[in-house]
Amino acid sequence: MPVKKAKPAKETAKKTKSPEDDFMDKAQPAINIGLVGHVDHGKTTLTEKLSGKWTDTHSEEIKRGITIRLGYADSVFRKCPKCEGPEGFTTQKKCAIHHVETLPLRKVSFIDAPGHESLMATMLCGANIMDGALLLVAANEPCPQPQTREHLMALEMIGIKNVIVVQNKIDLASAEDVLKNYSQIKEFLKSTIYKDAPIIPLSAQHNVNINFLIKAIEDEIQTPDRDLTKDPIMFVARSFDINKPGTKPSKIVGGVLGGSLLQGKFAVNDEIEIRPGRKIEREGKTNWLPIMTKITDLRTGGNSVDKVIPGGSIGVLTNLDPNIVKSDSLT
Ligand code: GTP
Ligand code: MG
Repeated sequence: MPVKKAKPAKETAKKTKSPEDDFMDKAQPAINIGLVGHVDHGKTTLTEKLSGKWTDTHSEEIKRGITIRLGYADSVFRKCPKCEGPEGFTTQKKCAIHHVETLPLRKVSFIDAPGHESLMATMLCGANIMDGALLLVAANEPCPQPQTREHLMALEMIGIKNVIVVQNKIDLASAEDVLKNYSQIKEFLKSTIYKDAPIIPLSAQHNVNINFLIKAIEDEIQTPDRDLTKDPIMFVARSFDINKPGTKPSKIVGGVLGGSLLQGKFAVNDEIEIRPGRKIEREGKTNWLPIMTKITDLRTGGNSVDKVIPGGSIGVLTNLDPNIVKSDSLT
């Protein structure tokens, strides 16, 4: 007879969440922060240290050990009320030094970009929705590497003003080499608009100096003033059909668009227009027909909400025929 594992007894005293924590859990992230830089310099490792989520999940990413698609992860930055210096900045709910509850500051969303040279278009797609970025530079390689330069140029061209340089993997170089690499970074930045960008030496893998980075993000990458009266514009990064095979016709829900709002706001029941839309080829000519639809539900951070503003990734449920959104066809 099969023996079932006993379920753990339910916790009798439910942990109470502070009103600030409850608000933060439901809140939409305030900003999108990109992680860019040369292949293998530690973007996904740092994303995990900041958010607890490993964003390389597709089989090909795991097999090749590189990021292929954009990764998304949210985190709440917090501060210990007793720590005086940068040590107090954390993502943990308890301060490791004072053992007191830390206070939530801001919810942020990370966009982990691929560093491989062949995936520049994917990185650019993510850069469009970044409010600020972390440029990762490995301390144990000469700087700049090709994608260190290309990614920073792309940020400059797209108009991203706030960049923090993360000098990663300091555990793999001697103190002398870390300083040499630091000078190379400074020299490289000189010819760009980021010559005064802060440089934070750290080891993502060994969790060293992450609190200094969180403080730098809090100081440098402010939440922009969002003009919610502007016409809403969203970049569609994914589109998909969420119906399982065999769903009854009466239960089928419309196509879903995933992405980020650039400006303005969306509310349930809003009419939206998708451009360029549907491709029509007639008599050797290609034309695009915009698609009109209605928002039936909005999702952010796993919650269903009435309206969304810029910040973090959102899911827009629509009245669209699920067939036309399948497999990212509307990105
Ligand atoms: P792509 O997305 O493919 O461009 O790579 P990535 O920048 O996301 O690098 P990833 O985080 O996948 O790390 C690449 C390798 O470097 C992994 O083996 C990590 O464990 C290692 N690594 C990342 N950060 C550190 C660090 O601070 N120290 C050491 N020693 N290794 C690190
Ligand atoms: Mg990666």
